[in-house]
Amino acid sequence: MGGPEGFEQVRQEHRDLRALLGTLDDAASRVLEHTAGALSELREAVRELDVTLRAHLVMEETALVPVLSAGAVDRMRREHIEQRTALVALSSEVEGDTKEPARLADDARWLVRGLLRDMQEEDAALDGLTAREGEG
Ligand SMILES: [Fe+2]
Ligand SMILES: [Fe+2]
Repeated sequence: MGGPEGFEQVRQEHRDLRALLGTLDDAASRVLEHTAGALSELREAVRELDVTLRAHLVMEETALVPVLSAGAVDRMRREHIEQRTALVALSSEVEGDTKEPARLADDARWLVRGLLRDMQEEDAALDGLTAREGEG
């Protein structure tokens, strides 16, 4: 896998991830509104994100490395390290139960915003690569 099929899979997984991030963001909002049960929803959404995002990062590292420039591969690897670090931090916060729920919700929203921004940039980069392939 690589090239166009790889790109399509990345885009599809980004759509799935956006849906998951929406669920996580909604749970975080409900935590901030002190809705009953919201903290377990938040915890559940973080667990699901943890599994899905990890698999996505591995898939990108497999599918995109052959088609990206060395500089772009470096950037992707650095970004993935940051994403994994942020995910590990949030996962251990929600499992550890040592933080105020409102702080957890803020941290979750911060991660959601960062991941949405990263995915948007990735999609734009893929669009650029696709356009270039079309020209060639
Ligand atoms: Fe990525
Ligand atoms: Fe991605």
